Amino acid sequence: MTTEKEAWQEKESSLEHRLCGIPFVQKTVELTETDSTNRIAKELAVGGAPEGTLVVAKRQSKGKGRLGRSFFSPEGGIYMSMVLRPKISAEKALLITTCGAVAVARAIERVSGCTTGIKWVNDIFVNGRKVCGILAEAGLSGNTEYPDYVVLGIGINVKQQSVPEELKNIVGCLEDTAQSHISNEELIVAVWEEFAMLYQNLSTAVYMEEYKARSILIGREVTVLAAEGDYRAVVTDIDKDGHLIIERDGREFGLSCGEVSVRL
Ligand code: BTN
Repeated sequence: MTTEKEAWQEKESSLEHRLCGIPFVQKTVELTETDSTNRIAKELAVGGAPEGTLVVAKRQSKGKGRLGRSFFSPEGGIYMSMVLRPKISAEKALLITTCGAVAVARAIERVSGCTTGIKWVNDIFVNGRKVCGILAEAGLSGNTEYPDYVVLGIGINVKQQSVPEELKNIVGCLEDTAQSHISNEELIVAVWEEFAMLYQNLSTAVYMEEYKARSILIGREVTVLAAEGDYRAVVTDIDKDGHLIIERDGREFGLSCGEVSVRL
């Protein structure tokens, strides 16, 4: 007779088994719960874990978002972080997040049939709601022109959850739109299959055309949330390095980080 614990292990090893079929994935660490898969992946990276080491958790108690925010991470979603050792300079760091965003958008469409849009730089939207956030964190020693490592963290809302009041109008989940069951395992595998293909072209970033085509910001008026005060601008383009090109008072310039908000 299979105990509950054994059944869980069998299921998890099935994920690992499927991920092993992707040559890029070297090792998978599966956790029931952790504070943050990005934190664990960074720890592994510092300890010498090779590129392709993946940490996956069923839930996070302290999921990390961009700009110091938290990422709501209840059971039912996908929380995972990949150790990368890219040979790109710090100025090109946005290419990792954009590569991840295209991979997730493709994977969601393949597995759920939902149409996705990308909100620069790291959010995936379905049906006007954020269903995925991406957080890339780099470790820099300054010894080489490249980062020591980059951890690419991806959180996807798959199942319906009781979402905190303040997130109700912003966050959605894939099963709401797909109106059918989505296998987390299938989606995780699809993300890394897509990512492995795109990552081969990281330095040339041929996928930027696709990133732009999926952008929900190009041509829209947005509010840029800036330290010196918020301002309105129009998004005219996204350049080959992933900078958001905006026009304000007749002048065009690029943003490499920060937050823009748009009414959807
Ligand atoms: C954002 O929307 O601001 C980015 C959210 C990134 C969340 C993912 S979930 C897996 C990984 N671990 C974390 O603590 N954060 C990322």
